[in-house]
Amino acid sequence: MHLHINNVSKTFSRSGISNTVLNDINFNVSSSQFLTLLGPSGCGKTTLLTIIAGFQKVTSGKIILNGMNVSKPCSDLGFMFQNYALFPWMSVRDNILFPLKQQKISKREQESRLAELLSLSRLEGKENLYPSQISGGMKQRTAFVRALAGNPEVLLMDEPLGAVDHQMRQALQEDLERLWIKDKTTVVMVTHDVDEAIYLSDRVIVMSSDQGRVVGDIQIKDPRPRSRSGPQYHKYKDILTSHLNQAYIPCKDEKESKGVEAA
Ligand SMILES: Nc1ncnc2c1ncn2[C@@H]1O[C@H](COP(=O)(O)OP(=O)(O)OP(=O)(O)O)[C@@H](O)[C@H]1O
Ligand SMILES: [Mg+2]
Repeated sequence: MHLHINNVSKTFSRSGISNTVLNDINFNVSSSQFLTLLGPSGCGKTTLLTIIAGFQKVTSGKIILNGMNVSKPCSDLGFMFQNYALFPWMSVRDNILFPLKQQKISKREQESRLAELLSLSRLEGKENLYPSQISGGMKQRTAFVRALAGNPEVLLMDEPLGAVDHQMRQALQEDLERLWIKDKTTVVMVTHDVDEAIYLSDRVIVMSSDQGRVVGDIQIKDPRPRSRSGPQYHKYKDILTSHLNQAYIPCKDEKESKGVEAA
């Protein structure tokens, strides 16, 4: 697997006003790497992730996956949206089967992959329930294995644990790590949570809200499973927090709204 983000820039224009959200972003993602994009709200993380997924076009630059230009969504790139985005009218089983049905593999293969994913996510016995009937953690695990079901080469996740409380979030980070270690799918995850980035990532790219630039590229070499109270963990926390402090520059929307208030 080779994923290259080459000189990617993105400018949104509306009513003659242009807003440059990403400015010449460059990095390569290695096979089986868990890479996190960390940055303040509004710095362009979702924009970059949706560009990598092929949902949005670049203004300039390229996304190259295995030598091919990505310009539209493809099954090699799995996407897990913020807040799970499960289909509410489908059971857990049908949600997980959805990408498998699109791949037109045999019913037997679908059932065997489903059984494997239900076991991996500890959702056996819950397969006939609907999203409204399961807990937030179960929804998160359903969304995760649904994104994994089609065996994507790269899994893109936008703040997958954004909607749960602190304790649940830590437990889910452990679940997520366990599921990832099993499959070792290449991951690009978006978060604004420093702890989450350190706990899960092999590498963290820090983005600044000043026109979406990369201001840090840090390898996390602490062996897994990581201790949240160990000295290594605290060392990385200091490094990432200091990068993040530099990365925080009030975004345009904020400056504009402050200007309006002052007037
Ligand atoms: N379709 C769009 N049209 C115009 N501007 C957009 C569009 N999508 C995003 N933006 C702008 O791009 C900037 C970055 O947005 P984006 O959603 O990528 O940020 P983010 O880092 O994911 O923020 P958050 O952490 O709050 O989710 C914002 O100023 C936003 O208003
Ligand atoms: Mg976002």
